[in-house]
Amino acid sequence: SGAKACDFVLFGTKGDLARRKLLPSLYQLDKAELLDKDTKVIGVAKDEFSQDEYRDLVILALKTFVKEPLCEDTLNRFVSRCYYVGTNFTESAGYSAFHELLKPEERVMVSYFATPPSIFGDICRCLHEQNLIHSDSRVVLEKPIGSDLASSRVINDQVSAYFKESQVYRIDHYLGKETVQNLIALRFANSLFASKWDNRTIDHVQITVAEEVGIEGRWGYFDKAGQMRDMIQNHLLQVLTLVAMDPPVNLDADSIRDEKVKVLKSLRPINADNVYENTVRGQYSAGFLKGSPVPGYLEEEGANVHSYTETFVALRVDIDNWRWAGVPFYLRSGKRMPFKSSEIVVYFKNPPHNLYRSSYRNLPPNKLTIRLQPHEGVEIQMMNKVPGLEQKQRLQTTKLDLSFSDTFKNERIADAYERLLLEAMLGNQALFVRRDEVEQAWTWVDGIIQAWEQSNEKPKPYPAGTWGPVASVALITKDGRSWDE
Ligand code: BG6
Repeated sequence: SGAKACDFVLFGTKGDLARRKLLPSLYQLDKAELLDKDTKVIGVAKDEFSQDEYRDLVILALKTFVKEPLCEDTLNRFVSRCYYVGTNFTESAGYSAFHELLKPEERVMVSYFATPPSIFGDICRCLHEQNLIHSDSRVVLEKPIGSDLASSRVINDQVSAYFKESQVYRIDHYLGKETVQNLIALRFANSLFASKWDNRTIDHVQITVAEEVGIEGRWGYFDKAGQMRDMIQNHLLQVLTLVAMDPPVNLDADSIRDEKVKVLKSLRPINADNVYENTVRGQYSAGFLKGSPVPGYLEEEGANVHSYTETFVALRVDIDNWRWAGVPFYLRSGKRMPFKSSEIVVYFKNPPHNLYRSSYRNLPPNKLTIRLQPHEGVEIQMMNKVPGLEQKQRLQTTKLDLSFSDTFKNERIADAYERLLLEAMLGNQALFVRRDEVEQAWTWVDGIIQAWEQSNEKPKPYPAGTWGPVASVALITKDGRSWDE
């Protein structure tokens, strides 16, 4: 059901994220009748726009980025909720215009900071100086929250000087993906999996987030971050915690987040002593994607040809706790892979004794594949007997395939941001990252990045359009396993 009337204030409304994702998601919520008739959307940017100019900008963003044809009625309704405030963000005088539009003492105000994190603190201070923060006000923070533990603490401290933790909603958009939420249902609503989710039954887990895109004009940002900070510290670790966590006592935000933090605390540190065995860094060189030539990372627009930044990471992660002792998690994520594909593959152990050993020295393992995107779904690989009267039974691997688009034919798969914006308006923090989660994730990631920096080694090249450097294959084959095809 929908949220009560609120004031949704979008700082950075002209930016890429707002136009590409946030405004279209708000439109979809409106279309699904999940926004109260009195909810307002207030865009904030530096320009001096009239209300009409801003509404034209919103319409253009929706026409460009909403994937299906726009619904005329929804569009009119949505646009008439939109208002604009022009300010330079850092001086509170410019915020006085909010008083005409908002009633923060009467209606919940949800402020979304789609701006560089360096000004999060200034925005909070200005809201405070204009007396716009009330006990029910909420703030939604976009990543990156810092580039290491120390800088993330600075940002979190700046925000927490004005907002309590219960008012802070840190976005990791992977948590809003339908299939990531389904992971919790799959694990805890099916006894088949609930009772088989540990080192007695599971051999290892693979998490792959392969991206086809390259740097897309973001070289300046990306080169300072690299794939480790851009994808692993947040999205892949979040997915890992949901796969690995113990059952929460209930589905409340803090019950879930308590369990996720425990997993992060159990990650075996990777540092200078074990970084070679457990990590591979890669950087794409020129190559081909779907038959067309594409430039290498160092030849992209705006590139510094001496950069050692990684565009690919593969890791072996060990979770030192009771449930996962001896079960490695292999993670990999890279730009310019052959195609976009994010999935979790859980490999089960073989039966204790192989009755079919005369035909199969090793039986192919049972595999549970959770396809996060695209082609969302769940698949189980099993062994079956091939029908027939032969004396010697023939077995074959077969798949139970539950594709979401076939099974839930009439359901639209919502964008992650739709779910997350709705949850922020409803005041449910379960799908947002708590401060201690962010800090614990940085603590672990900082160790790896420091070890890489000490060694000062070039990342290993891989041609664009391939699955990463050869060393990433060796990372898993040395353990007698291989990446899922
Ligand atoms: C963002 C990263 O957080 O996630 C991008 O900054 C990346 O570099 C994107 O491309 C991937 O998101 P999705 O939803 O397309 O998998």
